[in-house]
Amino acid sequence: MSTDKVEIFDTTLRDGEQVPGCKLDTRQKLKIAARLDALGVDVIEAGFPVSSPGDFRSVSEISQLVKNAAVCGLTRAVKKDIEVAAEALKYAKKPRIHTGIGTSDPHIKHKFNSTREEIIKRAVDAVSYARKFVGDVEFYAEDAGRTDNEFLARVCTEVVKAGATVLNIPDTTGYCLPDEYGEKIKYLKDNVKDIDKVRISCHCHNDLGMATANAIAGVVNGARQIECTINGIGERAGNTALEEVVMILRQHPRLQLNTDINPQLLFDTSAMVSREMGMLVQPNKAIVGANAFAHSSGIHQDGVIKNRETYEIIDPADVGVTESAIVLTARSGRAALAYKAKKMGYELTKLQLDTVYAEFLNYADARRCVEDNDIHEIMELSQRKIRA
Ligand code: KIV
Ligand code: ZN
Repeated sequence: MSTDKVEIFDTTLRDGEQVPGCKLDTRQKLKIAARLDALGVDVIEAGFPVSSPGDFRSVSEISQLVKNAAVCGLTRAVKKDIEVAAEALKYAKKPRIHTGIGTSDPHIKHKFNSTREEIIKRAVDAVSYARKFVGDVEFYAEDAGRTDNEFLARVCTEVVKAGATVLNIPDTTGYCLPDEYGEKIKYLKDNVKDIDKVRISCHCHNDLGMATANAIAGVVNGARQIECTINGIGERAGNTALEEVVMILRQHPRLQLNTDINPQLLFDTSAMVSREMGMLVQPNKAIVGANAFAHSSGIHQDGVIKNRETYEIIDPADVGVTESAIVLTARSGRAALAYKAKKMGYELTKLQLDTVYAEFLNYADARRCVEDNDIHEIMELSQRKIRA
């Protein structure tokens, strides 16, 4: 895989839905799936069909609804899981079964009480069995982040031989450093037989806040799929945020990597997922947070009013945000006040601005933000003072 296209595998409806207390019903999942399809994701991981009748129904209905993306169902390396996933996916235009097993020593010892040789056998059996139902089988090596590279390469070589089309290398516990994760991908590129016939996928968790950096290190080193969720939601500290990786690749053309995502739908999609899940987006969240394009200090506001590029690396319109926000606070200067006042219909001379600004500071010191209705009051008070 040496193209410059990075496939976006969205797992909002599977790993994302593992957020404690954020259950979605089938109607909500269909709504989100339709939006993800419109957004341009390549794969929608719709659920874990064997886990419950509700999840089975969601995967089955999403398979019938989605027009463009591949639809994927998760399984363990267990025959029954694979059969149920195949049944749930049977109407999908592009079905994918995502099967796998833990490969790190802690998983082999504590979860499976097994051996490395037995794990390879179970992985190969699962992939070959899944290939009987669908042509597209993704294999995940759970906890690949803490699996030694030599063993991981052996597992990957065997599952590719058994018919895997995608190799998912999850940093399940969010432990890897970006250079370490990047080297792991490079090691697999160099040491897995027939690696160029398959796609390597990055699936990074955010326990140490490195999910996005790790996914980018992965694609820089040859992976060509990123598994991610809207708003970075997911188990514990979450997954790689879709909006972040998409915009990183877009804003750094020197990486020569791109996606098929329509960035203008990012902000609305984020808001929709937040609403449906009942999970607020943190205000300082990159790309889609309420403050991502808000400026509140005088120095920054002055710069942005003169030219947006002084403090913004993304045009907010590119991600579906109407415009940057100038938030008036006690740190704001005259330039921001005059700018805001003008937008509200008040043209001020330099002298008037001095009076209004003095009044503004009294207000601003007593509040977190000065709102539009405060500005009207400040104008009236200042007018009275000027007349007196
Ligand atoms: O984090 C992980 O390892 C996973 C796999 C099940 C793909 O979500
Ligand atoms: Zn995961």
